[in-house]
Amino acid sequence: MTTETKTPVTRALFDEVMVPNYAPGKMIPVKGEGSRVWDQQGNEYIDFAGGIAVSALGHAHPKLVEALTEQAQNLWHVSNVLANEPMLRLAKKLTDLTFADKVFFANSGAEANEAAFKLARRYHWEHSGPEKNEIISFNSSFHGRTLFTVCVGGQAKYREGFEPAVDGIRHANFNDLASLEAIISDKTCAVVMEPVQGEGGIQPATQEFIEGVRALCDKHNALLIFDEVQTGVGRSGALYAYQKYGVTPDILTTAKSLGGGFPIGAMLTRGDIAKSLTIGTHGSTYGGNPMGCAVSEALLDIVSQPAVLQGVEDKAARFRKHLEDINVKHGIFKDIRGCGLLIGAELVDEWKGKSKDFLNAALEQGVMVLVAGPNVVRFAPSLVVEDDLIDQGMAAFAKAVDQLVSA
Ligand SMILES: Cc1ncc(COP(=O)(O)O)c(C=O)c1O
Repeated sequence: MTTETKTPVTRALFDEVMVPNYAPGKMIPVKGEGSRVWDQQGNEYIDFAGGIAVSALGHAHPKLVEALTEQAQNLWHVSNVLANEPMLRLAKKLTDLTFADKVFFANSGAEANEAAFKLARRYHWEHSGPEKNEIISFNSSFHGRTLFTVCVGGQAKYREGFEPAVDGIRHANFNDLASLEAIISDKTCAVVMEPVQGEGGIQPATQEFIEGVRALCDKHNALLIFDEVQTGVGRSGALYAYQKYGVTPDILTTAKSLGGGFPIGAMLTRGDIAKSLTIGTHGSTYGGNPMGCAVSEALLDIVSQPAVLQGVEDKAARFRKHLEDINVKHGIFKDIRGCGLLIGAELVDEWKGKSKDFLNAALEQGVMVLVAGPNVVRFAPSLVVEDDLIDQGMAAFAKAVDQLVSA
């Protein structure tokens, strides 16, 4: 079907035909190139949202388009009844580049986490007995929207109305080792944490905390799971944030940027742990499909280059400078924090609860940003966004702030 013969659609149709669990903005994007996006009316936007930390190489990166179209002309899908070449190549790359010996492919972050939690329980069921089944996560954490992952996640609002909850899950306070120490025990099979809490407001773990969590896991023979769905694949300035902290997990989950916009997730782990997912214990029809893996392989080849990772740090400093300049003028941020190109600007109390106003005002000025909860404006742009686009987009954001503050 050509574009001309497709049924015209508008934002109003969303409310007619879509389940109302999302509230998308008014404009409908139709084209993206690098860090620029155009809507149905041809208006241009600079994209600092990156599809919520997904579009690691921006939109329609030529190398990803090439990988996807080449794969599309060869093999789309075979299921896990058979292996496929892109899956094997990608798994080899991921294991070469990280602590992991083994990979399980999924299609999203939640599914990668689901696999991690199931593996942690199964591993200890096998090695320590069925009583060692408790999973500890942290308040304000986010691990996805399946029933297991909303129960593990540390935000009650995502569980509300979906109870009964999955059993055997406890929550401690993030960056508070004493609170973890109080509930970790020999019944704990795993502790899961985001090295930087994303949806919870862009809260980086302190070095002391992340090291302390590792030590407590070791003391209680619990597996340490890092959910790097948001921090992974170069966003932190290292390929994975654990490498920056110098603290190695037993299981790591990755998605979002892994496919740069093509749905793919993965769980990485050591060989001795992986053994517990024996044949038939877990699976996914689409997991490891050739299209996603081909795109991801091309993406990893670029993102893992030291120059690209250094670029993340340089670009992050550029973003922060702009935010600091805005703050000198208006004093609206109480904190500007993050890790690499995952940046959060927390609003001062006067603007508490109004982060969405900043997102909307920015959109009016032609720049796409995100929120991370009601008090934090979030930036998760392409890792290769051009410096002049950063300057241009942040000037537009500054204008949006000027207008909001003077309204
Ligand atoms: C840290 C973290 N884990 C898991 C998820 C869930 O990923 P997905 O939406 O791909 O299921 C997210 C999504 O925002 C996330 O930020």
